[in-house]
Amino acid sequence: MPTTLKLEFERFSTPARGVLIVFCDDGLKFGAATRKALEPAGDLVTRAAAAERFKGKNATTLDIVAPAGLAVDRLVIVGAGKVRALKESDFVKLGGVAMGKIPSAAADATIIADLPGGGVKPDRAADLALGVRLRTYAFDRYKTKPKEDESPKEIRVAIAVASVAAAEKAYGSRAAVADGVTLARDLVNEPANVLYPEEFAHRVLGLKKLGVSVEVLDVPAMRKLGMNALLGVGQGSEHESRCVIMRWNGGKKGVDPVAFIGKGVCFDTGGISIKPAANMEDMKGDMAGAACVVGLMQTLAAREAKVNAVGAIGIVENMPDGKAQRPGDIVKTMSGQTIEVINTDAEGRLVLADVLHYVNKRFKPKFMIDLATLTGAIIIALGSEYAGLFSNDDRLAERLVKVGRLTGEKVWRMPVGPEYDKQIESKFADMKNVGGRPAGSITAALILSRFVDKTPWAHLDIAGTGIGSPQNDINKSWGSGFGVRLLDRLVADYYEK
Ligand code: BES
Ligand code: MN
Ligand code: ZN
Repeated sequence: MPTTLKLEFERFSTPARGVLIVFCDDGLKFGAATRKALEPAGDLVTRAAAAERFKGKNATTLDIVAPAGLAVDRLVIVGAGKVRALKESDFVKLGGVAMGKIPSAAADATIIADLPGGGVKPDRAADLALGVRLRTYAFDRYKTKPKEDESPKEIRVAIAVASVAAAEKAYGSRAAVADGVTLARDLVNEPANVLYPEEFAHRVLGLKKLGVSVEVLDVPAMRKLGMNALLGVGQGSEHESRCVIMRWNGGKKGVDPVAFIGKGVCFDTGGISIKPAANMEDMKGDMAGAACVVGLMQTLAAREAKVNAVGAIGIVENMPDGKAQRPGDIVKTMSGQTIEVINTDAEGRLVLADVLHYVNKRFKPKFMIDLATLTGAIIIALGSEYAGLFSNDDRLAERLVKVGRLTGEKVWRMPVGPEYDKQIESKFADMKNVGGRPAGSITAALILSRFVDKTPWAHLDIAGTGIGSPQNDINKSWGSGFGVRLLDRLVADYYEK
């Protein structure tokens, strides 16, 4: 993958070098601007399509190297399928597909944003650009040797459109989203020897330059507040715990904020209830929820969203140690409720219990949405396509499902409620921190629900979608940045009026 991307919009033209990428429908028809660009090639495309049995189905591609009649080195036809069925998220995906067809050795590419039957609207051209951005991301800062034959330092990708000004205007907010996703991915991919709680908090301070206010609570501050559940998780680590509160006030003064809360376990060994060695390295990503909150806050600020928003993350490292928390320990949460820690590996809910309560009490938010790589069980239930959604509020849950469909960051609602109470009854405390294997993701959510009072709340379990598996046309990164696009869209569609 190229190191830096120079993305620009330009007027329709006939490119003279590099890679040319165009779109067709499932009848192999092109838009007018594309036909004009391909005219010098005569029947080349028709012949190549027949020879390759290329039918223009959605997200399929046809490569023609050194296309006779054209000045470019390579022509790529990307099928868009049935044009009328194309949704916003399809354009983002097609942008990713197009970007994926640019060889890493190329320095120059032009994507003609055009389709048969009326061309491509500026918003959709900007969606293509977003897809290009998301696809281009690579976390290669620790690769010291470039791959052979690879990469010019910079690749210029031009998206050819009917109106440059209109496309650029539409792209503005999407660039903010792409930057937020990039930040989230960077944080998730960063190893835990580099990104420990203090360093994480330090990086969040970078949001100040966009007008986000950032407050960092250290251990004494959290002790004073009574955040003993969070502190108990971090007490076995050489790295001190932190809680970071971000505020973006782009809305009317005095209007209650919306609030986003993230699990930020920089590394989860399991603690004294230690995890097996296999795949434990993945637990550097156990702060993906917190990373999403930071990426989201950056996006809201960068596009100057007309909303008051709070972001809060609990950042800790869960380690086994002489000072570590033990199974059987009982912690008093900031809310006053006590939790018996049966399994020190069920630590995310302990961290979130205190941060949720703190945010609710201090900010009286309109709603709280937390994100967490909370349970392995959600991976068993939903895999990596859907995040688990748990909520005490039907309206909020339905809105999340809707924006999930629009953005392609899909969520599936699961039950949560008093039916499961007995699974977390404790002999000694108000509750225990695990409810056994059945309904493991639900009992985890149930614990969180006890720390939100009556505030509308939703919990997104992103263990399956945030790290590891989700590789697709717009994400080749281990840390996907899941949730930034989803929640940005929730705010844009419902809370910026
Ligand atoms: N961070 C893990 C959950 C996880 C597992 C995320 C795999 C991503 C991939 C969480 O802290 C955890 O350890 N959960 C336990 C809970 C159990 C002890 C009740 C789990 O899922 O096994
Ligand atoms: Mn754990
Ligand atoms: Zn964890």
